[in-house]
Amino acid sequence: MARKASGPRIVCLTAYDFPSAKILDEAGVDLILVGDSLGMVVLGYETTVPVTMDEMIHHTKAVTRAVKRALVVGDMPYFSFHLSADETIRNASRFLKEAGAAAVKIEGASKKRLRLVEAMVDAEIPVMGHVGLTPQSIHALGQYRVQGTGEDEARKIVEGARNLEKAGAFAVVLESMPREVAKIVTESVGIPTIGIGAGPACDGQVLVFHDLLGYSNGYLPKFVRKYADLHGTISRAVGEYAADVRGGRFPDDSTSYHVKPGASARRAGRPAAPKKNRGR
Ligand code: KIV
Repeated sequence: MARKASGPRIVCLTAYDFPSAKILDEAGVDLILVGDSLGMVVLGYETTVPVTMDEMIHHTKAVTRAVKRALVVGDMPYFSFHLSADETIRNASRFLKEAGAAAVKIEGASKKRLRLVEAMVDAEIPVMGHVGLTPQSIHALGQYRVQGTGEDEARKIVEGARNLEKAGAFAVVLESMPREVAKIVTESVGIPTIGIGAGPACDGQVLVFHDLLGYSNGYLPKFVRKYADLHGTISRAVGEYAADVRGGRFPDDSTSYHVKPGASARRAGRPAAPKKNRGR
């Protein structure tokens, strides 16, 4: 909240495992989101819809084991909050109790969703909202596309963010919307907005770790800036390793162990001499 008022902008990235979370935490990232994007990025699902609570908890645990400083937010997966307020609170509390996260994120701002946000906040679970493109709604939306390009949709986004603030959310993700709409949202709520594909006016920015690093070589949305080419780096490294193994260059002496001085590996290859019978 202080950062919304006086900056600097909030830096957020996704992480799904121990080593990447450790790098982000040590690099000073403010907020680490264990997004349900893990389904597509790490688990190979086509959408985020199949991601389960158990998968989210498993990965959030790995992340919180690594993090000493950043705020870790666990993403409520599809159908972990669709049946009842009780089940929503039970699932949300697992992120805090079992996985060590400090908050949860939930997609959408329908009336029903707002009541769930209130119920979670009432149970002392800090909640981050998420409006604009909500990928869990893919089957209702029909396609992933920029939201809020027309007035009606834009108004829905602004109202959604305002209502999330009223319901007690401490921040809100703005995904895939015109920068003009994200600016209006940012100016009309008192909580920080964290943008992804929502332009530069937001109070913070989030990207998917693997997109930022060029880890996969698949489709990347327009809003991603690739800061590295890990796919190329890893492919080259694996190719060199394979060539070295096939060519007998790996392992070499510097990557091999030796027997203790005085021990003979040759003797170790022969059957041990029978022990002398000293007793009888
Ligand atoms: O699941 C996710 O990674 C997200 C971010 C892209 C905001 O929801």
